[in-house]
Formats: sequence, C-alpha cells, structure tokens
Amino acid sequence: MRVLVTGSGGQLGSELRRLTDSSADFVFVDRQAMPLEQPETFRAVFEEVRPEVLINAGAYTAVDKAEAERALAYAVNASAVGELAALCKEFGTLLIHVSTDYVFDGTATHPYLETDTVHPLGVYGSSKEEGERLALAGHNRTIIIRTSWVYSYYGKNFVKTMLRLLREKETLGVVNDQVGRPTYAADLASAILDITHQYAVLPLEQQLTDPRFYGIYQYADYGVISWYDLTVAIAQEVHATCTVKPITTAEYPTPAKRPAYSVLSTTKIEEAFGLHIPLWKDSLKACLSRF
Ligand SMILES: NC(=O)c1ccc[n+]([C@@H]2O[C@H](COP(=O)([O-])OP(=O)(O)OC[C@H]3O[C@@H](n4cnc5c(N)ncnc54)[C@H](OP(=O)(O)O)[C@@H]3O)[C@@H](O)[C@H]2O)c1
Repeated sequence: MRVLVTGSGGQLGSELRRLTDSSADFVFVDRQAMPLEQPETFRAVFEEVRPEVLINAGAYTAVDKAEAERALAYAVNASAVGELAALCKEFGTLLIHVSTDYVFDGTATHPYLETDTVHPLGVYGSSKEEGERLALAGHNRTIIIRTSWVYSYYGKNFVKTMLRLLREKETLGVVNDQVGRPTYAADLASAILDITHQYAVLPLEQQLTDPRFYGIYQYADYGVISWYDLTVAIAQEVHATCTVKPITTAEYPTPAKRPAYSVLSTTKIEEAFGLHIPLWKDSLKACLSRF
C-alpha cells in the first residue's frame, strides 16, 4: 500500500518516518517538495506517488502567530486540505487528516465528543475547523483525527521548552487553569499507522464501503492534567531543582486565546479500531528517555 505523508519534518511526520523505518511503501514530502500554500504543486506529487492513503501531517501550527498571519494559516490548514481532498477523491485515496482540540472553545464540563458543536477561539482553530469541513465535504473516504497537546523528541513543543527552562531558571510559573490530554506524537503516529494497516488489509470492496473510514475521530493519551501538572512531572523525571509554581492564564497573556477545558473523548476511535491508548505519564517517560 502506497502511503504519502505530508509535513515530514514536523513532530508527527518525524514519528511516522521513524516508526515506518524507511519502508518503501511510505513516501514523505516536506515543505520544499509540496508547499501546502501552493496547491498547484499537489497534482504532480499525486501523479508520481499514486498514493492509496494520504496522511496529512503538515499544518500551520503557530497558534499565536496565526492571529497575524490569517491568510497563510487558512491557505495551509483549510484551502490546501480542500484541494488534497479533491485529489484523494480523483485518485481513490483514503485521506487521513489531522486536526485539533482548538476547534472547541473549552467551556464544556464533559470530555468533548466528535459530535459536539465546534467554536474555535482563534485563527488557528478556525482555520483547522474550516479544513475539517472541506475535507469531509470533498471526499467520502476521509477521516479526521483531532488530537491535543502534542509533544515529542522532535521540533518545537511544550515538553522541550520546559526542559530548557527548568535547566535555566530557579523558579518557573506555569499555567494551571487550562487542562487537557497531553499526547506523545509517537503514540498518535502508532494509532494512525494501525488504522492505515486496518484499511490496507481490507478487500477493495470493503475499503469503499466500510463506514469507519469516513468521519471525525479524536485521539489523545489518557489522563487529564494542566500545563503546570505536566511541568511538575517533567521536573520530577529529570530531577530538576527549579521550583515550579502554578499561575493563571490571566498571568500569562498570549495573542491567541486557548481553551480552558481541552479534553477530548477518545472512546469512538478506541472502539472503532480496537486501539489501546497509553497513559500520559508512561508516554512522557518514554519521550524523556530519548533526550
Ligand atoms: N502540536 C500540537 O500541540 C497539536 C495539537 C493539536 C493538533 N495538532 C495537529 O497535529 C498535526 C501535526 O502537528 P505537529 O505537532 O506535528 O506540527 P509541527 O511539528 O508544527 O509540524 C507541521 C509540519 O507542517 C509543515 N508545514 C508548515 N507549513 C507548511 C507549508 N506551508 N507547506 C508545507 N509544509 C508545511 C512543517 O514544515 P517545517 O518543518 O518546514 O516547518 C512541519 O513539518 C497538525 O495537523 C496539527 O494541527 C497539533
């Protein structure tokens, strides 16, 4: 099964590459090979690779910067996704598109279901929400996988920033009134590869008709914690001497508003694909052991 992966240099793309261990079935493209804000470049890649599955791991993910770069965020997270869905339809490709908890406003008091009403708080979330809609409208074999609080050994992420700050500072204030489910990119990548495999082994007829391969799913590691809780766990794990203090969102203003309650329900993806989702703390340890 030929699988095309965009965003090969990102957190998720890098984990997909590592876990597929240079398998000839997987073709990874980066920003140079397929600039997502230039949809006219997509067709040539599709014609060359003829993918049976497309994993769209590329995205504009700079949440704060997006407030000032609305057009670029929408081009990459929305328009490009619509164009990719149209090509997937034409080439008979399953589209696995990754989205975000930031499509919600965080005012819920129960874990968000896939069917809950979306209401993004900023440009990044709105652009991803538009991407979800264009993907689902453009192709009848599209699955959206929303995820949250992604970290990894690769790229820029909260865990790596905290590792640096814990070394550099004597005290560190971290937001304690935003909660969510941290997700190790390696766990998300494994889940996506598991789903890809389940699709690949189906007879063609079933690939076309299995209802599991259309719609929205959510994936996040188990456990609901705050950014402060996550930092304390990192500090304990690396035996940092820095004092970590809880602060409020109001004490740490950012250009983009974040959802206070960013908890995704994952029951649907677990039941549909028989996935086992790890606990955040076990995955954090696994990630930290790589540094
Ligand atoms: N990170 C999170 O906390 C988080 C939370 C929820 C959902 N998600 C979603 O999860 C998915 C994977 O995120 P991630 O954490 O792996 O993101 P990431 O590390 O920022 O990776 C994004 C990738 O997209 C590429 N990219 C950005 N703009 C591009 C463009 N114009 N053309 C081509 N490629 C472009 C980047 O290329 P460069 O390497 O060249 O910059 C990078 O390889 C995304 O859909 C994201 O929205 C992430």
